Amino acid sequence: MKNSFGNNITVTLFGESHGEYIGAVLDGLAPGIKIDREYIEVKLALRRPSGKISTARVESDEFKIVSGEFRGYTTGAPICILIPNTNKRSADYGDEMDIPRPSHADYTAHVKYHGYEDHRGGGHFSGRLTAAIVAAGALLGSALESRGIRIGSHITELHGAFDRPFEDFESDIALLSGKQFPTLTESAEASMKKEIEKAQSLGDSVGGILESAIIGMPAGVGEPWFDSMESMLSHALFSIPAVKGVEFGLGFAFADVYGSEGNDPFEVKDGEVKTISNNNGGINGGITNGMPITFRTVIKPTPTIFKDQASVSLSKMENTVLKSGGRHDPAIIHRARAVVDAMAAIVMADALTGRYGTDYLAEKN
Ligand SMILES: Cc1cc2nc3c(=O)[nH]c(=O)nc-3n(C[C@H](O)[C@H](O)[C@H](O)COP(=O)(O)O)c2cc1C
Repeated sequence: MKNSFGNNITVTLFGESHGEYIGAVLDGLAPGIKIDREYIEVKLALRRPSGKISTARVESDEFKIVSGEFRGYTTGAPICILIPNTNKRSADYGDEMDIPRPSHADYTAHVKYHGYEDHRGGGHFSGRLTAAIVAAGALLGSALESRGIRIGSHITELHGAFDRPFEDFESDIALLSGKQFPTLTESAEASMKKEIEKAQSLGDSVGGILESAIIGMPAGVGEPWFDSMESMLSHALFSIPAVKGVEFGLGFAFADVYGSEGNDPFEVKDGEVKTISNNNGGINGGITNGMPITFRTVIKPTPTIFKDQASVSLSKMENTVLKSGGRHDPAIIHRARAVVDAMAAIVMADALTGRYGTDYLAEKN
């Protein structure tokens, strides 16, 4: 099992959905990075279920930092963030995992870990662990903001309901930072929530597409081949449970344009080299070009649904029908937004410290 990511700053995830704690260890941080608890709490709240379109399992996410912090700043030692699991109902899951939930990780985890895996609530594979990603990403995200780098995502599409695309990145990202349900228009929020409620009333679930932007990244950050900016971002994004696709800039729509339409011509603007369009999503040759980094991430419908589904009994090796219990979201996309932003912050912090040194994120530099 491998649970660490990053080259210069590494994040290691640990814990299970129904264990005592989940958490993250951040290593490679410079001393002197301010730890903004309020900022971390705000980001955790954006991931937390809320309202009738979310699961009834609400955790307060009262995190502790048990290592690497002194007087509100990083010391340079590994940061260990602990988040307790307080709202568990393990009885919903039985003693042994027998009937795997279609499209969840129950079957693949069972095959790989021979039944030793903690299957309760999805165990180590649960979306619950994404709270630890959000906390780690928020710690780095606030340091990035002090360097003028900001990240935002909105739901651009959800089961036939659409939001408008990003227009003014600065003001759109500012608007999204305070929104529990991340859309740029009120009408999109209403129509998407209606779709989620409809799926919920059917005992079903829906997915959608998040559109994200990172602004303020200097040109010249990233690597040309295996650790290209796209490779590192998609590696981190595909590590989020339920992510099944990532595209940058124009993405798959490049298939339908001429080179003359898809290319991003250069211009000098306010004494800096810019591109007139941004179809390449701010990245050329794996390296940032100074334009906003733009990407889209598709989140599949929540696998656990309240409808009968064909499955198998692993103990009897026969076909059966799974009747799902437990507590689940009819959609996770609005909560996954905080995780996508956190992953983007982790990748930017990793890439920037690779380029400029670990002190880049510290206050005195
Ligand atoms: C924030 C978040 C919350 C999630 N909550 C649930 C949930 O309540 N029920 C569920 O079946 N899946 C949930 N998932 C998705 C599963 O964890 C995921 O689909 C599963 O681990 C299989 O991984 P895969 O979809 O990447 O193949 C959640 C994912 C995220 C990002």
